Amino acid sequence: MEPEPTDLAALIGEHDDGVSLLSVLERIQAHYRYLPQEAMILVSERLGLPLSQVYSVATFYHAFSLKPRGEHLISVCQGTACHVRGSARVLEAVVKTLGIHPGETTPDNKFSLQTVNCLGACALGPVVVIDGQHYGLMSPARVGAVLAKYRDGRAGSDTP
Ligand code: FES
Repeated sequence: MEPEPTDLAALIGEHDDGVSLLSVLERIQAHYRYLPQEAMILVSERLGLPLSQVYSVATFYHAFSLKPRGEHLISVCQGTACHVRGSARVLEAVVKTLGIHPGETTPDNKFSLQTVNCLGACALGPVVVIDGQHYGLMSPARVGAVLAKYRDGRAGSDTP
């Protein structure tokens, strides 16, 4: 989705009364699924902050992306607790199913894949989060069925 200047102005403009940089970036990320360069420049101008500060915040948080993301963001935990329970094999199954590696997006823009170091649910490892929905005790065998729900638009129709 290419940013329209009017969309950007509206997204930022609603927040120009003492708004925090973080909340403006969150709003833009939610709308475009990434932070377009034009948006970063406009945010810098509108909030009166150095562009370097805007980029610094944008690159610090995992939730933000400087590259367009797919419709669904898949985070596969590779932290220690998940690792000892087989998260590498879960990641391998996701890579094989989607044909992309961490940091990449499927050609149909349906899925983006990333690895993270902990999702805060270590006891349920291996953990995968898709669009904020946690899938605990993941196994390579479950990957296909879980991803199919998102590909077919059935996600959220039942419990994980
Ligand atoms: S290490 Fe995976 S959720 Fe904490």
